[in-house]
Amino acid sequence: MLCAANIAYDIEVDGEPLCLLNDVYFEVPKGHFMAIVGPSGCGKTTLLKTIAGMNAETEGAFFWNGRDLSEEDFEPYEVGFVPQFSIAYDQLTVDENIESSAKLRCRFNSPEDLDQRIEQILIETGLTEIADRDVKILSGGQKRRLALAMELTSQPSLLLCDEVTSGLDPRSEEDIVKLLHQISRQNGRIVISVTHSLAQLELYDSILVLHQGYVAYHGSPRGMSHYFGVESLEDVYPKLQERTGEQWNRSWGKRREAYYAKLEVDRQEKILQGEFVIDGEDEDEKLVVDVEIEPDDKEPVSNEEIEERDDDVAEDPRTPSVLSQFWTLFARRWRIFFRDKTQWSLQLIMILLFPILVAMFSDKGSGQIISLSATESALSIKNDIETQQLNMKTGSAVSGIIMFQVILLGLMGSNNAAREIAGERAIVEKEKYAGMKVSSYMLCKWMFLGTLVLVQSIWMYLFVNFFWDRGGGLTHLSFLILANAAMTSVCLAISALAKTADQASLLSIYLVGFQLPLSGAVLALPTFAEWVIRPFISAYWAWSGSIYSLKSDVLGSVKNVLDTNLTEINQCYVVLGIHILVGMLVAFGASRASKWDA
Ligand SMILES: Nc1ncnc2c1ncn2[C@@H]1O[C@H](COP(=O)(O)OP(=O)(O)O)[C@@H](O)[C@H]1O
Ligand SMILES: [Mg+2]
Repeated sequence: MLCAANIAYDIEVDGEPLCLLNDVYFEVPKGHFMAIVGPSGCGKTTLLKTIAGMNAETEGAFFWNGRDLSEEDFEPYEVGFVPQFSIAYDQLTVDENIESSAKLRCRFNSPEDLDQRIEQILIETGLTEIADRDVKILSGGQKRRLALAMELTSQPSLLLCDEVTSGLDPRSEEDIVKLLHQISRQNGRIVISVTHSLAQLELYDSILVLHQGYVAYHGSPRGMSHYFGVESLEDVYPKLQERTGEQWNRSWGKRREAYYAKLEVDRQEKILQGEFVIDGEDEDEKLVVDVEIEPDDKEPVSNEEIEERDDDVAEDPRTPSVLSQFWTLFARRWRIFFRDKTQWSLQLIMILLFPILVAMFSDKGSGQIISLSATESALSIKNDIETQQLNMKTGSAVSGIIMFQVILLGLMGSNNAAREIAGERAIVEKEKYAGMKVSSYMLCKWMFLGTLVLVQSIWMYLFVNFFWDRGGGLTHLSFLILANAAMTSVCLAISALAKTADQASLLSIYLVGFQLPLSGAVLALPTFAEWVIRPFISAYWAWSGSIYSLKSDVLGSVKNVLDTNLTEINQCYVVLGIHILVGMLVAFGASRASKWDA
């Protein structure tokens, strides 16, 4: 049983409190199929999210089988939430999406168990025939079915659906409502479906009418037109406008008990007719008793015990481990990468083309570097000036080549990571809600991006060094990897913080664009700017460290042409390490925060 006990939900808009839900009371027994209807903007989505625990109610409490949800949230496998917009990966097929959803939410004893569950859900939702079709070519109705199927993988006891029929043709709408009805007839499952449409209401066990954040009615579909005194249900919305939500709520309060009694009679009738079977009907009672007795039976709970309990929750036998979720996500990430032609071809072009661009300058950076003569005759001074000029040319070419490498790797880093999180925000929030741990998610991102970074940087190093013999060995390579990794990590943090993928891309491109002018390698920065800006410019540290890794004669000639200070290798390692670490921490923190409304 789900009970909403006088729920209010307020938000603050421009410093003013705004009540989105007021005094919402309802009870929903097991195996019940309920619709929440009401005019646009009346608070349906808000109510659904408050039930789900995505909004924290300001007043009142929800009770789930006797458990106060404000004290102990739903377990991820207990509840399924189908949001208004599609949340599957377009590049994957129907059954790949269902499979990854199942693997992220539940543990399976064997691959056969998993296959069996998927097959059963495909049949249940009528998707068997299109199981290997890509999501991007599905119709609206098929996508809604898929969204439901993905939620059913954990066999939730409560299924919350937001406008899953909106935008569908009447036929598909009817099919989906019938499917939801059928889903609610199994295992005592409660299905609550928000809908703006007043068609097919007779299939529901009860209808809750919301008006201006107040409950105006909650009873059988048959009782609804009678209650509102209208001929047909289409007239309910115009009728609602005749009074305020508060007025409707007050008069509903007086008649609620009578309507609830009728609902209970209907329900007993349906059970007698065998429409649905509720096993463990007395569980509600039992749970209430458990909750009440527990504190008396036990010693006061110590902090350690609470921590242990938290561990127990993390080790719930039904939820997969971090590692198992990581493998699911990691395999899926690569699959999406190879399915997405634009993504992998752009990667390939960058990996192959950028080193060629750098290698074009290898001749200039390969000139000989000659030591000046010791004597000071007129002839040798003239020779020395010429030699010095040649040395300087080579020196600035070497510096330029290294900066070019670093900047191009930074560009690849920003392209790697900018859209990585921001581009799939809705899916991530959904999966987090369904029990995906943020650590599994971040581990997947770091391993995936780490692989790209290594391939890009090592190939850049090998290819350029094939044509150019003045590169700085493994230390140089390590700085190329770090340059790319630092930019990738910072851009991943931007991606986690940004509202949209486009915003993240734009910010990341700016960040790369400013690297060269602010590195000081072309024009020296004013001293104060060096202190303030330099710490943030990863290109400088990778460049400086790489130059220090060169042989001493080359290093000398580079130093001669530079107008700016270089920093020793160890310090460069430290600063780049900090960039990577800060990027990782920010990305982790920002991914943990809930961003349902972003
Ligand atoms: N974050 C918010 N800031 C300001 N107003 C909001 C916010 N969220 C919802 N609202 C307002 O609350 C009301 C209810 O919204 P919602 O629950 O989405 O309506 P429904 O789903 O019934 O169409 C709307 O008037 C909407 O504009
Ligand atoms: Mg809505």
